[in-house]
Amino acid sequence: SLAVPNVQALAETCNGPDEQIPQRYVRTEASSGEVISNCHDNVAAPIIDLNKLLAAQSSEEECVKLRSACQNLGLFQLINHGVPDEVIGNFKRDIVEFFSQPLDAKKEYSQLPNNLEGYGQVFVVSEDQKLDWGDMMYLTVHPSDLRDLRFWPTYPASFRQSIDAYSSETKGLARCILEFMVKAIGAEPELLLGIFEEQARGMRMNYYPPCKQADKVLGLSPHTDATGLTLLLQVNDVQGLQIKKDGKWFSVNALNDALIVNIGDTLEVLSNGKFRSVEHRAVIHPNKERISVALFHYPCENLVLSPLPEFVEDGKVHYRSMRYQDFLKQMLTAQLDGKNRLEKLKL
Ligand code: SIN
Ligand code: FE2
Repeated sequence: SLAVPNVQALAETCNGPDEQIPQRYVRTEASSGEVISNCHDNVAAPIIDLNKLLAAQSSEEECVKLRSACQNLGLFQLINHGVPDEVIGNFKRDIVEFFSQPLDAKKEYSQLPNNLEGYGQVFVVSEDQKLDWGDMMYLTVHPSDLRDLRFWPTYPASFRQSIDAYSSETKGLARCILEFMVKAIGAEPELLLGIFEEQARGMRMNYYPPCKQADKVLGLSPHTDATGLTLLLQVNDVQGLQIKKDGKWFSVNALNDALIVNIGDTLEVLSNGKFRSVEHRAVIHPNKERISVALFHYPCENLVLSPLPEFVEDGKVHYRSMRYQDFLKQMLTAQLDGKNRLEKLKL
């Protein structure tokens, strides 16, 4: 990948209302200003209560909501998810502390060439592409023997521990919610769950500095996640996630105690389109930094991405097959481009 400036440092040098932002960050399309309307929470990001799903008599109403979220939107907010407040609180506190360090301290964890892990940027593939207004820190968190501790920060002192605790506490949760999702769309969960069982999980911590001309930049370009499902944690109280629905952008008003679940392309293809992957992006606040964490669930490495037989009705296969590794490589070696990578697989 190509070296690009640290955005947090850049933001500090051009933070005046009339300051020139480098052209590589200035979007020609309207960015945050393009949002058509701020939907009511329930519409933009339905709220699913895990307690209601777990009850001895799974709430029918909750299952219907979940099915609709999976089939139509590809995203929902999960409440009563059971991850202890303390685990999330410690993790959030440590992330904020990590990013608040001077640049030199963070650079100790800089990405190495051709390696996603560490502190830096992702999806930078050419000198003339538009760049995102944000930095990130990427770590493989599971399986634990794949952890590359060179990139695991030692400051704050509890950070490694809090990353581990959050990753571990969400592992069973991800499996559990995926099982409910598959059942909600009326399928047998074993095969699909098996594809994700004990597979890699990667964590991307996103740091979006403020920008006085916030509507000229984007924190993260429109994309869908290539992987299975993603758990998204909003770290501070600054909103910025938007999703595309019927061609329009909507702001997601993330609830304080919720984990956002979004569906990636792998689940869409495996389910032959029953699950929809959600196109999303991140916008920037004019005065406040924003921090979020995406936890990606990868399928088994040698997966051939192709609709599973149980989702194929009347012989209608809606996606051509492709090796998952090739699909992922396509994503990592191109600019983020909305839902187009997936569209090309559609039959
Ligand atoms: C992501 O798509 O990984 C992050 C979105 C966000 O920052 O809310
Ligand atoms: Fe994403």
